[in-house]
Amino acid sequence: MKLMVVGGGGREHAIIKKLKENKDIEIIYALPGNGGIAADAKCIDISATDIEGITAFAEEKGIDYAVVAPDDPLVLGCVDELEKKGIPCFGPKANAAIIEGSKVFSKNLMKKYGIPTAEYETFSDMEAALSYLETAPVPTVIKADGLALGKGVIIAMTRDEAMQAVKEMMGDHKFGKSGENIVIEEFLTGPEVSVLSFTDGKTVVPMVSSMDHKRAGDNDTGLNTGGMGTIAPNPYYTAEVAERCMKEIFLPTINAMNAEGRTFKGCLYFGLMITEKGPKVIEYNCRFGDPETQVVLPLLESDLFTIMKAVTEGTLAETEVKFSSKNACCVIMASEGYPVSYKKGFPMNIPADTAADVYVAGAKLDGDVLLTNGGRVLGVTAVEDTLRDAIASAYNKVETISFENAYYRHDIGARALKAGEAE
Ligand code: AMP
Ligand code: GLY
Repeated sequence: MKLMVVGGGGREHAIIKKLKENKDIEIIYALPGNGGIAADAKCIDISATDIEGITAFAEEKGIDYAVVAPDDPLVLGCVDELEKKGIPCFGPKANAAIIEGSKVFSKNLMKKYGIPTAEYETFSDMEAALSYLETAPVPTVIKADGLALGKGVIIAMTRDEAMQAVKEMMGDHKFGKSGENIVIEEFLTGPEVSVLSFTDGKTVVPMVSSMDHKRAGDNDTGLNTGGMGTIAPNPYYTAEVAERCMKEIFLPTINAMNAEGRTFKGCLYFGLMITEKGPKVIEYNCRFGDPETQVVLPLLESDLFTIMKAVTEGTLAETEVKFSSKNACCVIMASEGYPVSYKKGFPMNIPADTAADVYVAGAKLDGDVLLTNGGRVLGVTAVEDTLRDAIASAYNKVETISFENAYYRHDIGARALKAGEAE
């Protein structure tokens, strides 16, 4: 079997490493991959958003199965184009990827089908949004409708901040077309849980839950990032919460998408907040989370490729999806200054016995020397019986890796540890 994975970050590295456990797979191409992924897949210099290039490559190489991992190609219809050429894919078609691609769409979907989420209003006119804000309760949350690299969400503590955010999105076009429409929503509080799920449009199988750490600094200070670390399972996701989520959120979402003629197949990511009134949806993603994948897939005991094919073929109900009951922790090593400005191009030293647990996000090869090439450089994952041990072991591994200007948070998992022990 010849596989192709579209994307080039830590998430894709984790997917590729897991896929490689299946011995029927002869080769995996990564488009574009990165210098670190090159140790596990053949990297091809085609951008993840070059849908024509990707499709042409897949046809030319006779690819048997494609995994489209990032949001942009999914929203752009990469799966639709590959399937037109007869190439089976893991990932939703564009008409279903809209669940992440448009927040106006996903909020309206939740309202129409009674799926619990923050109260909201949508706006396509800046003056109307500003006049609504004159009396809206604060804090409030302003969201650009479209994809904005995870930066399109502003938590405004004051009315002024909220108005400023609206002016930047709708007046100054800070996020381009993504901000032409906006959502203004109720500010919710409570612990956040990420639940990735496999779904073939009929059955939904949640994966082990996880917790992201989005802020750049220790104790959740500093700017929002793409994610500085994750742990799994998430102690706030109790059996009782899981049961409610299945009944009130997961199944209703799959059914709603079917009812809209937008059957979702692939990995549907539920970003949840456990509020006093129960679990509510903060966001949907149409793909595996990054860096959630780097803790979730190492805990998967079943064969990933078998599950992916079952999702494509609609046979998920008959397929085993088994997770270990262990704990995982992933610490992201970034370049100092991320997410604002940072230097790159520094040689990285990763000892051979750590490399198996390293998922490279931003690196390039200079001959056979691996150089840093991004804000988030890599993630290191440890799996142990307890969360406490997983955290300690992940940090031990981090200390064996070095590159100039390496930066990481020191408290990944600390909050989960406290919550877990309080129970
Ligand atoms: P999103 O890009 O939609 O995941 O939002 C980024 C982050 O903003 C989330 O992980 C939450 O921490 C926060 N957030 C989003 N919506 C809300 C809300 N309605 N209330 C409180 N926090 C929110
Ligand atoms: N970790 C959050 C995301 O993948 O969007």
